[in-house]
Amino acid sequence: MAVKWRFTQIIISLACLTNCSLYAQSIDVLHWWTSSSESKAVEQLKTQLFNQGVFWKDTAIAGGGGMAAVKVLKTKILMGDAPDVAQIIGSTLNEWSDMGVVLPLNRVLEKNKLEATVSHTVLDLITYKNKVIGAPLGVHRINSMLYNKAVLDQLNLAPPTTWADIEILHQRLKGSGVQTIAWSDEPWQINTAFEAILLSEAGAPAYLDLMQKRQEKDWLQAPVLQALNRLQWMRSLSSRQSKPSEKTWSSNTRDLAEGKIALLLMGDWAKGELMSWGYVPNQDFGCTPVPGTSKAHLYSIDTLALLIGNQSNSEVQEKFVETVTGLTAQMNYNKVKGSVPVRRDIDNKTLDVCAKDSWDNFNNPKIIKVPSLAHRMVADEATKDAIAYTLWRSLTAEKTNLKETQIRLATIIRSADNKTKVTQ
Ligand code: BGC
Repeated sequence: MAVKWRFTQIIISLACLTNCSLYAQSIDVLHWWTSSSESKAVEQLKTQLFNQGVFWKDTAIAGGGGMAAVKVLKTKILMGDAPDVAQIIGSTLNEWSDMGVVLPLNRVLEKNKLEATVSHTVLDLITYKNKVIGAPLGVHRINSMLYNKAVLDQLNLAPPTTWADIEILHQRLKGSGVQTIAWSDEPWQINTAFEAILLSEAGAPAYLDLMQKRQEKDWLQAPVLQALNRLQWMRSLSSRQSKPSEKTWSSNTRDLAEGKIALLLMGDWAKGELMSWGYVPNQDFGCTPVPGTSKAHLYSIDTLALLIGNQSNSEVQEKFVETVTGLTAQMNYNKVKGSVPVRRDIDNKTLDVCAKDSWDNFNNPKIIKVPSLAHRMVADEATKDAIAYTLWRSLTAEKTNLKETQIRLATIIRSADNKTKVTQ
């Protein structure tokens, strides 16, 4: 049965290579999910949609963090060739909505009573000027640190909970050939590490102020400089063992799996990647919050926006939203992706141990939820990029003056677009 079904899917895919209009229910989706776990997660959505008679036609643009995908999307829209659906996330949804290219989804949400099931932080994030403008898929945790269990067990060390623990691990690993902590000079990865460290140095309430109020004077305070110092220290730990380079997040994850690296500070899509290769949480690897951030959830929420194009078919697009936010798709997709469902009506006991911790924290009113800047949950695309490149330039320069870097960051924040908003 499964084989027959897969065969049908392949036949339709091949037909779609030449003429997809043969199938009225086909939908073009532009996204940046191309790694092992990401592609498998997309397969889960495709399957659910296919069962509903909707064919997902893929435009996948490689590049972690979506830098390349967003550029392609802009070009396509400007050329009047908008896809039906695109991975547009966080406050950048607002920018696209203001341009009038995003289809409001209030009707589908009301029809499916999603207001009652989707968590409030998610609902807030996708609502702009009273319009719901994104179909929410999953919640990623950015302040997540993965460790190779065998490496720590061999040294008889518990998973690090402080930066000092990481320094101890670093000393213990001297001469072993194992790198203490993963590093990549890709700007978006530097930015991802920076915000998790900033959360640790500033604490959740101050982090929220930095992002929400965007006061230049706050960005000139001690925690930001401390975070920059910590970031530079983290890079120095890896450069003793290997030359820093723009390694992909998936390749660093592979090195963690193979015990070449002990720790990886990365959004929990890296956990999804490990699981897609057959590694098991708590057995082969573990997950723990980034030191000093256990009382906060630094989130990035994946959403798909429905675009208004020449060929749009809002009926099919609505069926699309209904399906991807449905319980089955939510569970199947998120289990593979590494994120957690946006819905509150799930059985959290069926989640893996890392996901359960993330979901429980995200849905616990006592835990402060803070938005990711590196992943577009707050601030516009240009501000996010300016911060990422400032950090990159500062860390990779021959001589670095972190005080100057801090002043540059504060200046970027002062001129940031204030249309974007933060939810909690
Ligand atoms: C997205 C994730 C994706 C990650 C790595 C993030 O911005 O939200 O879904 O897996 O980038 O590309």
